[in-house]
Amino acid sequence: MPQLDKDPQVVAEMFDGIAQRYDITNDVLSLGLTRKWRHEVTREIDPRPGMDILDLAAGTGTSSVPLVEAGAKVIAADFSAGMVAEGMRRHPEVDFVQADAVNLPFDDDTFDVVTISFGLRNVVDTERALAEMLRVTKPGGRILICEFSSPTARPLRASYTWYRDHLLPKVAGAVTRKAGSYEYLAESISQWPDQVELGKLMVRSGWTRVAYRNLAGGIVALHRGTRPVADPQ
Ligand SMILES: C[S@@+](CC[C@H](N)C(=O)[O-])C[C@H]1O[C@@H](n2cnc3c(N)ncnc32)[C@H](O)[C@@H]1O
Repeated sequence: MPQLDKDPQVVAEMFDGIAQRYDITNDVLSLGLTRKWRHEVTREIDPRPGMDILDLAAGTGTSSVPLVEAGAKVIAADFSAGMVAEGMRRHPEVDFVQADAVNLPFDDDTFDVVTISFGLRNVVDTERALAEMLRVTKPGGRILICEFSSPTARPLRASYTWYRDHLLPKVAGAVTRKAGSYEYLAESISQWPDQVELGKLMVRSGWTRVAYRNLAGGIVALHRGTRPVADPQ
């Protein structure tokens, strides 16, 4: 399969175009499973009052709301003006910033936790984004990545791959009337590193104590890591 072109401007415009129907489409395509996955993300982050959290590629802020509700100080950052505008309209209680994951407009050592849900796969340079997330995390702070991954059991892998490549783009095209965006979704998932490979990228980018947990048999994986207290010389 040819390498997917993730031209940042094209990706941002694609999300601008689906912003208004993004959340309903997620619920339809995942048969409601995204709600459970988001609950698991929040549980892993364990947000507390006073905690500084960056929710990167936050889209319309659906992944940010539970963190805000727990009392954390949350910045929801995304590079799509359309997603940010829709997020600000729906969730005035969330602080949105338009920002690119590969060049974050935040000082070093700012956040206790950085998190990214269903976003890292879309970034043109994964390692650069992981390094930027490391830079803005406080020493000893954590990262939590929620992303599509590789089902571990062969029968699930076969039926899921068929669903993802054939049915999903058609259903999504009907819900959003933007078929191309969801062909991109299927392709970007199929070309994304599996659980072990993403873990290796995190380690290479400087994260320690890297581990993952599968959800829905590995359709989604939650990767976590810690910024070392002393950076390697
Ligand atoms: C699938 S949505 C996920 C939104 C949200 N985190 C959620 O869980 O619903 C992916 C988001 O990643 C954003 N994105 C993609 N590349 C980005 C980048 N380089 N910097 C910031 N945001 C980016 C897109 O604009 C889009 O809103």
